[in-house]
Amino acid sequence: MRIPSWLRPSAAPPADNGAEHNAAPVPRNAIVVLRDLRREYEMGGETIHALAGMDLTIHRGEFMSIMGRSGSGKSTLLNMIGCLDRPTSGQVIIDGVDVTQVPKRQLPRIRREKVGFVFQQHNLVPILTAEENVSLPLRYANVSNRYRRERAREALAAVSLEDRLTHKPTELSGGQQQRVAIARALVSNPAIVLADEPTGELDTQTAAGIIEVMQKMNEQRGQTFIIVTHDPGVSERTNRTIHMSDGKVIEDSATTPAATETA
Ligand SMILES: Nc1ncnc2c1ncn2[C@@H]1O[C@H](COP(=O)(O)OP(=O)(O)OP(=O)(O)O)[C@@H](O)[C@H]1O
Ligand SMILES: [Mg+2]
Repeated sequence: MRIPSWLRPSAAPPADNGAEHNAAPVPRNAIVVLRDLRREYEMGGETIHALAGMDLTIHRGEFMSIMGRSGSGKSTLLNMIGCLDRPTSGQVIIDGVDVTQVPKRQLPRIRREKVGFVFQQHNLVPILTAEENVSLPLRYANVSNRYRRERAREALAAVSLEDRLTHKPTELSGGQQQRVAIARALVSNPAIVLADEPTGELDTQTAAGIIEVMQKMNEQRGQTFIIVTHDPGVSERTNRTIHMSDGKVIEDSATTPAATETA
C-alpha cells in the first residue's frame, strides 16, 4: 500500500511549514505542535473564543494532563488535536503534518492512524461484546477478521480484561467498561491517545487503576497521552500539567523551573 506523502511521519518539516504563522521549525521529537490556534463560535451575534491563540508543543512519549475550569476550552482543544474539528485559524501539526492544510476527506484516515480517544462516557456499543467493541476501530484497516480478533484480545489483555471478552458493556463494572474503552483506543496502536475526563465517573481507587493502565501503556509502548481531568489526584500522576483559562494556556509545569530538570 502506498502511503501518501502527507501521512509519512517526517522528522524534518516541509520547507513551507509554518511560513504563514511562524517560520520556526517543528522540533524533531514533537508529536503535536499548535501555533496561534483559535476556534471561534458565532452564537446569537456573539463570538465565543473557545481557543484564543494557543501555542503548545507536546513531545513524543509525554504523559500529560490538561486542567482548567468548565468552559476553558479543554474539549475543544482535544477535538483539534484529534482532527474532529477544524480551527478558525492557526496551525495544528500532528506528527509532522499540518492537518489544517490536509483536505477534509483525508482527515478520518489521519485520525484512525494517529489518534485513539477515550471519553468520560465511554461510548461502547451496547449490543457488542468487549472483544467486538475493541476490534471496531480496525474495521477500515483492510485486515483479516482473525487479525482483528487477535489485536482486540491483546489490547484487552493489556488492560487485564482477557477473561471478559464476551461480556457486553452492561455486564461489566464502570471501571471495566472504561478499560474496554482504553483497549479500543489502543488497538490500532496510535501515536497519540486523547482522554477527556476518562475517570470522571469513577471512584478514586478505580480511577487510580485506570491511570495506572495508561501509565503502563505510555512506558511500554511510548505512546503520547493527553488527559483532560478535573482531578488533582490524576494530574499529579502525569509528568506534565498545563492549566487552561479562556482558551489559553495560563500555566505549564514543563516551563516552570522545578519541572525543566526532568523535562
Ligand atoms: N459547538 C459549539 N458551539 C458554540 N459554542 C461552543 C461549542 N462547543 C463549545 N462551545 C463553547 O466553547 C467554550 C469551550 O468549551 P469546551 O467544551 O472546550 O470547554 P471544556 O473546558 O471542555 O469544559 P468542561 O470542563 O465543562 O468539559 C465554552 O464556552 C463553550 O460554551
Ligand atoms: Mg470538556
